[in-house]
Amino acid sequence: MDRKSLIIGNWKMNLTHLEAIAVTQRLWYRLNPADFDRADVVIAPPFTCLRTLQTLILADRMPFALGAQHVHWEQDGAFTGEVSAGMLVKLDVGYVIVGHSERRAMFGEADELVRKRVRSVLSAGMTPVVCVGETVSQRESGETEMVVTTQLRGALRRLTAQQRADVVVAYEPVWAIGTGRHASADDAGEVCELLRNTVAAMGGPDAGEAVRILYGGSVNPGNIAGFMAKTHIDGALVGGASLDPDTFAAVIRYWM
Ligand code: 13P
Repeated sequence: MDRKSLIIGNWKMNLTHLEAIAVTQRLWYRLNPADFDRADVVIAPPFTCLRTLQTLILADRMPFALGAQHVHWEQDGAFTGEVSAGMLVKLDVGYVIVGHSERRAMFGEADELVRKRVRSVLSAGMTPVVCVGETVSQRESGETEMVVTTQLRGALRRLTAQQRADVVVAYEPVWAIGTGRHASADDAGEVCELLRNTVAAMGGPDAGEAVRILYGGSVNPGNIAGFMAKTHIDGALVGGASLDPDTFAAVIRYWM
């Protein structure tokens, strides 16, 4: 099956809505239609930039998709500080990152909460980007497979086969995030194959074939091609390198 490549820029807690306009325009000038034929390109800015970028993207007909970095699972109610899937849909958000290791480590996001978020994102018609990954000590004690499959199984519990096919999975080894130390393409490819097999075991072979699996963790213009050459890696979840339009454009255009 042909899975279209997917490159997501996760801006994390960076850039104001004014800076977001400049970065998005500059990125747009550096890309051409062929880039979007090859890959879906997603910008996942802070919540405060979403409305601004929605307007910009619509006005200038930019083929970027918007992503959100977080969501609450309830539709509305007394949840101070939270944002619902329905609110994100109205901003034309297409993708929502869930289970990012920073949220797991700093905000107590356990597998059950990841699962609830996945369900609410899917119910609203958006695509969850389910992040999984092991810490350095888990890797050193040989627990990588167990950790990532447990996280993925937890996130995909009680979904239909179609829903399991519709998610995006991102393998982000915790030790590679923001450290400049990336997984080898071979190692990442093997873990992504394992994740695909896990989706297939839960949702059937068609879901396993269809699901898009990304690598994330210190992706840059110099290493992206190695990851993209792997059969089971369909794209990248890019942090630091997505903040600079020149660098992010070079990641997206790695094939040039
Ligand atoms: P870096 O690319 O900065 O390592 O961040 C990866 C990441 O966490 C993307 O979600």
